[in-house]
Parts: sequence; structure tokens; C-alpha cells
Amino acid sequence: MPPTDFWKAYKCPHCDSDFELINSSFICRKKHCFDISKEGYVNLVPVNEKNSLHPGDSKEMVLARNELLSTGIYDFLVEWIVEYLNGCGQRIENFLEIGCGTAFYLDAISRGVGSVMNYGSDVSKEAIRFCAKKYKQSFFSINNSFGLSMKDGFFDLILSIFSPFDQKEIERVLSKDGMFVMVRAHKDHLRELYEIIGLKSKDKTDVTFDHLVLVKEEILTIALHPDSHLISLLIQMTPLFWSIDRKQTDIESIHCNELTAKLKVSCYRRK
Ligand SMILES: C[S@@+](CC[C@H](N)C(=O)[O-])C[C@H]1O[C@@H](n2cnc3c(N)ncnc32)[C@H](O)[C@@H]1O
Ligand SMILES: [Zn+2]
Repeated sequence: MPPTDFWKAYKCPHCDSDFELINSSFICRKKHCFDISKEGYVNLVPVNEKNSLHPGDSKEMVLARNELLSTGIYDFLVEWIVEYLNGCGQRIENFLEIGCGTAFYLDAISRGVGSVMNYGSDVSKEAIRFCAKKYKQSFFSINNSFGLSMKDGFFDLILSIFSPFDQKEIERVLSKDGMFVMVRAHKDHLRELYEIIGLKSKDKTDVTFDHLVLVKEEILTIALHPDSHLISLLIQMTPLFWSIDRKQTDIESIHCNELTAKLKVSCYRRK
């Protein structure tokens, strides 16, 4: 079952007014209507934006991400975030993961912190369809993180793991005492693999907020010992996938005995 009153998190992408849930459709005061799909998600990307937006991850990328995360190689990240949030001792009512992909982190972290209502959003229809089929206790929407059809100040915890967003949108939908947790790849993340392939990883531009302050930041490093199949899954999840000439390189044949994952976790609160 999705969370009770789950539609109350959202607002109409056309006119910003509140929704009512009528016969499996979100209907706003001006009668704009968005149907809940048979899998149980809602698509809140306005029709006129659908073609101009990057479609997000493809089905192949979603399946590769699911297989890779199921091996447990990123469980250390879940454990760090859960321990930190539980240490803050704050009750989390509404938890949103933006750019949630397969919702692996939304599911694991929500169970760890005991959040009451859990929401995932992504611009990829394939990703959201996958999530809605798999996690019936959360609610999912196709939503653009650069213009979220969600209410101001609604979420007590917002999570972004390797996903793009607009800072002002995070500040707008975060509740007064809310926490924003962002995970990005450190420039040395999977360095050995970049070296084998002969590519340079790019430095991420800094994220700055007008109304949020950094309260905790940590670089998490872990040594991985991947086999060739795991490497090919990792490649499919990273920008490397777009940089490799896949006609010339068989990604299943790349070997790398030692690989270092290096992630930067940054936690923000309102000033
Ligand atoms: C690198 S994946 C990370 C997925 C997930 N957070 C994880 O770590 O497993 C980036 C995700 O952001 C989504 N995405 C890309 N642009 C987006 C946008 N403008 N709005 C919402 N999601 C977006 C992609 O579809 C993809 O699922
Ligand atoms: Zn409307």
C-alpha cells in the first residue's frame, strides 16, 4: 500500500494548485487531470516539456543499476547515512529521493530511519515504472528535479545520490527543520577504471545554497574487488558508458582487480 494521503505532497505542474484524488486521478482546482498508471505511479511532467527533457536512464541502465546495487557493494553508503540521520534524533515524516533510479536507497534508508511516508521521483519513465512495481509501500512520480511538482516545505528529508537538481527547488520543498543529503562521486571515484580506459574523470562543480548550511561532510572510501561482469555493470552506471567507443571495446572484457569507490556525502540544513 502507498502512504495514506500520498497525493497531498504534490501540486499541479500547470497552475500550482492543490490536487484531490478522484477515482485514481490527481485533479486540481482548474481540472487539470493526471491519472495514476496501472503500476501505481503518476506522471507530473507537463506534456509540453516531455519532448524537450532528457529522458533520464534507459531500461538497460535501470536493470544494470538494480543488479549492481543488489550485490551490496554500496551498502556502506546506506549504513553511513542511516547512522548519521539516526544520530541526529529527528523524526522523519516525509522522505523524498529525487533522481531515485531504482529506489534502492529510498527503500533501504527509509527502513533504517523509520520515515513514515516515502516518495521517489525521477524523470525516467523506465526507472519509475520499475520502482512502482517493486516498492508498493512508497509512492513514485515522474518529476523533473529542475521543476518539482511538489508542495513548498513538505519534505523532512530529501536525498540525491548522483542525480542532478536545481538548488532552489530543494530549498523550496524542504521543510523548516528538514535535512538535505547529497552524495556525489569524488574526482578519484573508480580512478583505476578511468585509467585503464584512458579517460579523465571530471571535477564536479561546487553546489551552493542561499538558505541551507552544510552541517556534515565526509568522504567515504572503500576498496572493491570486482569481477568483469561487475565492472561492466559499473560502467553502465557511470558517465564512462557514454565515453567508451563500444564498437571498439568489449566492456565485459575489461579487468581491474582493485578498484576504489570514493564518495562525498554532504548534509545540509536550513540556515
Ligand atoms: C546516476 S543515476 C542515480 C540513480 C540513483 N540515485 C542511484 O544512485 O542509484 C541518475 C538518475 O537521475 C535521473 N535524472 C536525470 N536527470 C533528471 C532530472 N532532470 N530530473 C529528475 N531525475 C533526473 C536519471 O534518470 C537517473 O535515474
Ligand atoms: Zn492545474
